[in-house]
Amino acid sequence: MSEPSPHRLPRAVRPVRYELRLDPDLASASFLGTVEIEAVVDAATSEIVLNAADLEIDAATVVAGAEVHEPAAVLLADQERLVLDVGAELAPGPITIALTFRGVLNDQLRGFYRSTWTDDDGAEHVLATTQFESTNARRAFPCFDEPDRKAVFGVSIAVPVGLQAVSCGPEVERAPLDDGRTLVRFGDTMVMSTYLVAFVVGELEITDPVDVGGVPLRVVHVPGKGDLTGFALECGAFSLAWLAEYFDIPYPGEKVDLVAIPDFAFGAMENLGCVTFREALLLTDPDQATQAELGRIGLVIAHELAHMWFGDLVTMEWWDGIWLKEAFATFMEMACIDAWKPEWRQWEQFTIERAAAMDTDTLHTTRAIEFPVSSPDEAEAMYDILTYEKGASIVRMLEQYLTPERFRDGVRAYLSAHEYGNTRNSDLWDAIEAATGDPVRSTMDTWILQGGHPVIDADVDERGLRLEQRRSLYLDDGDDERRWSVPVVVRAGDEIHRRLLVDRRETILLDEPVTAVVNAGGHGFYRVDYGASMRAALLVDAAERLTTVERFGLVDDTWAAVLAGRLPASSFMELARALTFEDQLPVWRALGAGLRAVGRLVPDGDLDLYRSVMVDLVRPALDISGLEPADGEGPLERQLRGLLVELAGAVGCDPEVVELARGWEADPTTEPELAASSIRVVAAHGTDADHASFVERFRSPRNPQEQLRYLYALALFPDRSQLDRTLELAVGEVRSQNVPFLLAHTLGNREHGPATWSWVEEHWDDLLERLPSNTISRLLSGIRWLVTEPTVTAVTGFLAEHPVASGQPTVDQYVEKLRVHAELHRREQGRITAGLG
Ligand code: BES
Ligand code: ZN
Repeated sequence: MSEPSPHRLPRAVRPVRYELRLDPDLASASFLGTVEIEAVVDAATSEIVLNAADLEIDAATVVAGAEVHEPAAVLLADQERLVLDVGAELAPGPITIALTFRGVLNDQLRGFYRSTWTDDDGAEHVLATTQFESTNARRAFPCFDEPDRKAVFGVSIAVPVGLQAVSCGPEVERAPLDDGRTLVRFGDTMVMSTYLVAFVVGELEITDPVDVGGVPLRVVHVPGKGDLTGFALECGAFSLAWLAEYFDIPYPGEKVDLVAIPDFAFGAMENLGCVTFREALLLTDPDQATQAELGRIGLVIAHELAHMWFGDLVTMEWWDGIWLKEAFATFMEMACIDAWKPEWRQWEQFTIERAAAMDTDTLHTTRAIEFPVSSPDEAEAMYDILTYEKGASIVRMLEQYLTPERFRDGVRAYLSAHEYGNTRNSDLWDAIEAATGDPVRSTMDTWILQGGHPVIDADVDERGLRLEQRRSLYLDDGDDERRWSVPVVVRAGDEIHRRLLVDRRETILLDEPVTAVVNAGGHGFYRVDYGASMRAALLVDAAERLTTVERFGLVDDTWAAVLAGRLPASSFMELARALTFEDQLPVWRALGAGLRAVGRLVPDGDLDLYRSVMVDLVRPALDISGLEPADGEGPLERQLRGLLVELAGAVGCDPEVVELARGWEADPTTEPELAASSIRVVAAHGTDADHASFVERFRSPRNPQEQLRYLYALALFPDRSQLDRTLELAVGEVRSQNVPFLLAHTLGNREHGPATWSWVEEHWDDLLERLPSNTISRLLSGIRWLVTEPTVTAVTGFLAEHPVASGQPTVDQYVEKLRVHAELHRREQGRITAGLG
């Protein structure tokens, strides 16, 4: 940053090393602390400005050579700053800043906070843990809380009797204190940013370490969950070794602990060597988990470990750079897990994430991936689907365009040039450009510095295949002139044609353009609209002619055209009927999403017809898949069966499937995919007794994944009184971290959406107070199908008057998506029933 910003601390004093001691008292939910910051005065000053929030300062001294100052310490609460007025000028050179402070272990899941868990006898236990990203280290200790003020951290914790503690460095010393507590000292960290510091104190159990090329890897959790740690250890060990090899740099810390925290605002957090997770994203029994659950855990572990290099070792200079570390870690998580479990076909599954990002990016309210950020608050709006999934898609598109080897060479050059330092995003493009000689920066800029993405109109003309790009928009007003540098891959017969489409139009000379596939391989972040003759030709034998990802693209692009009003919903139904042979999971996920959406368009009176059409469409695939798992099946085949069971039973209401599901749900030995699907089928047809039994299962689950299955299935029950009981739980015993997801599911219930919305309005203030602030927008993701009046007006009116502090851009996107659906609903009212086929 060249200009001074009100959001950046003065640069006169530079931290070098923090010696930090914390004394947490779990019973009174408070802590005492001391910090000694070795710093360097770079420009003479009489004032030291650092960050602090929600802390009280009890004492401050500044030692400069032989002089000892006792500065006045002034807390500026609204600026989250601590100003030390030394009263005399400090000359350039080393100083030590010593502060004694105190704070509260809060319940807001940020800073140094309290998390609770209940043992088998119903007794409540407390642990204390941290979450610092983006700017919450300042709530645990006074510090220079900006990502480029890197320093070494030496942490000590006074651990109460009977408790354990972990932090970023390995434990190096234990000393008994007079009152029976133990002072545990952790080894110095590497030079790193404040947002990566972490410490956790409580009744922790820690697995034996697994040795990963000299780095000890452990899983840390609350007591009694040791049998759920094997999968994370195996995945973590693979990922750590694979990433070190990919980056060609050894792991930069001394040990890795993966720590499961009962209350956690995010999914996981890349604290150096002390990575924290939601329990359900770390602890599992792989024999009882579904493919989706295991895949998610694997990806989250790989994602956070990728940050140890990309983010922790090399760090953004300012918060506007977070999108790159998140996009890149999201890309790396796929690459890593694909290498670990090729049979999971991670990149095929990723097409669904890419499509979800395109969905948001087809709105006027989308944003550029990269935008100028001055305050940290503005940066909070960056943690969304556009940063993670669009960002990762663009990185993947670049990797495929350059080839994986050349791309990796560029990444290695970037990391080794900047290790222990800070970068701007363009430094990565420049490094890749230098390593490959390709115009990486100018190409990437068209994807990163403007919102949206193109749809390529593809049609046959007298010379060959005519391609034309325009911006993809659902509510298209036809006057958007944006262009992209599109790496187009066309397959015609066995031949592959690659072009960087920079202009608006281009014709590729081809002998038989009518059967050409545009976006072959499916890596491009764009949609394709085929002309009628091409579309018909592709459908003739799509099973042979198109790969799984290409068939997925055809289905997803068709649904996007329906949303944009370019095709009627009946065209989607036609496509679904043409794909009855389909046996691949990603294609069925896209079909399932579209078919469910079609259900939202059907008037109540025609629902029986819709259900029978669903069953007719799904049963052939389900019969091929078989109603019982067979020997020798792969994980994706089992997952597909689960999806088809849910579509037939919960959406189509096929009585045979519903009956079977009841049996599967009740049998503890049922195969996990069928078990998970049958929970949702039973819920969709659930009685009051089922509701009560689901609540019991939620209260005493066999593992964290099962707990969430039963919890979120409560949103699917059909009766109003059941809804009321579910909402009571949401303001009662459900952890605040899960409430937004439960409510989002409940808002999505066709029957109960409007009533749930009224309830949300009524409880709005309580929800804002109780839920982690970053999760409010997650809750609102549930509004997108509230398409009937007067609910549309109520929702849009209420949200216009109640801006959401963290995540308003995301909320604007949900509101626009609701408008897109409301328009579609209006268009289809008179014709959808006839169009069901
Ligand atoms: N650095 C983020 C966590 C984070 C996000 C902290 C926003 C502060 C603000 C972490 O690496 C991450 O991306 N977590 C994801 C899970 C991940 C696997 C996609 C999350 O928490 O959702
Ligand atoms: Zn991340």
